Amino acid sequence: MSRRGFVLAGGAGTRLYPATLAVSKQLLPVYDKPMVYYPVTTLMQAGVREVLVISTPRDLPAFRELLGTGEAWGMRFEFAVQERPEGIAQAFLIGAGFLADHPAALVLGDNLFHGHGLAGMLRAAHERADEASVFGYQVSDPERYGVVAFDEAGRATSIEEKPAEPRSRYAVTGLYFYPAGVAEEARRLRPSQRGELEITDLNLAYLRQGRLRVELLGQGMAWLDTGTHESYLQASNYVETLEARQGVKIGCPEEVAFRNGWIGAEQLARLADGMRGSGYGRYLLGLVER
Ligand code: TTP
Repeated sequence: MSRRGFVLAGGAGTRLYPATLAVSKQLLPVYDKPMVYYPVTTLMQAGVREVLVISTPRDLPAFRELLGTGEAWGMRFEFAVQERPEGIAQAFLIGAGFLADHPAALVLGDNLFHGHGLAGMLRAAHERADEASVFGYQVSDPERYGVVAFDEAGRATSIEEKPAEPRSRYAVTGLYFYPAGVAEEARRLRPSQRGELEITDLNLAYLRQGRLRVELLGQGMAWLDTGTHESYLQASNYVETLEARQGVKIGCPEEVAFRNGWIGAEQLARLADGMRGSGYGRYLLGLVER
C-alpha cells in the first residue's frame, strides 16, 4: 500500500523573528542539517516514499531547490503553495489531487522525533490502513498544544486545542496518519474562531467514529519542536550531543534511503562525494565503506 506523505512547512514563524524575516523557519539548520530533513526522515522511517511539501509562496522555491524531485533519495517530492496559514488540516485540501484515494501521513516541518523504538511505531501506524493514528507525548506545558485525555482503560476520550485547563499532560504531536478518504473528512471542517482548519477537529472526527488510535511516545523518546528561540537551540543542542557522543546522525535522509533499500551504495557514494567537505558528507562516506 502506498501512503502519501505531507510535510507542512509554511507559517510565518513570527516567534523566531528576526531569524525568519527572510528565510523559512523549516530551512534553518538544526545543528548540522536543514530543519525539514528531520520530519522528512520521519516519514521515510515510516516507509513513505511520495511526499508533498507545502510552504508559503515566498519559501516554496527554496524547498524545491533543497529537495529536488526526490530521485536522489529514491523518492518522489511534489510541491504546493499554501497562500496563507489557514490551518494544518488545510494540507489535505491543498493536496487532494496528490493524495487521490491513498492513505496519508502528515508531519509538521518543524517537528523532530527521535528515540529507541520509534521506527517500529511508525511502521506499525503505516501498516494500519483503516485507522487514524496520532501520538501523545507528556509535556510540561500542555496548554500550548492539542491535549488528549484518556479513560481508565487508556482509551482516548477527548482532544482539546490549547485548553486553558488541560485534562492531561499529553500533547498530540505533529505527526498524523489517516486512512484513505481524509480529504473528504477535511472538507467537512469549518474554520475555528482563530480562522484555521484545525487538525484537532479532524482528529475529533476520527475519534467520534471510533477510528482514532492514540499511541503514547514514552519518556525515552524525544519530541522537540523548534518554534521559539529556546526550543530551537535546545533541539540543536540535543542533536549535537547525541551525534557527537554516539557517532550517529539523527534526521539523515540519505542514510534512511540507503537502509530502506531505496538507493544503492553507488548512489550513496555519489551523494557523499558532493559533500565531502563537511562532517555530514564524511559520515555518508563512512556508511558506504562500512
Ligand atoms: P505554528 O506553530 O502555528 O506556526 P509558526 O511556528 O509558523 O508561527 P508563529 O511562530 O508565528 O507562531 O505552526 C506549526 C507548524 O505548522 C509550523 O511548522 C508551520 C506549520 N503550519 C503551516 O505550514 N500552515 C498552517 O496553516 C499552520 C497553522 C501551521
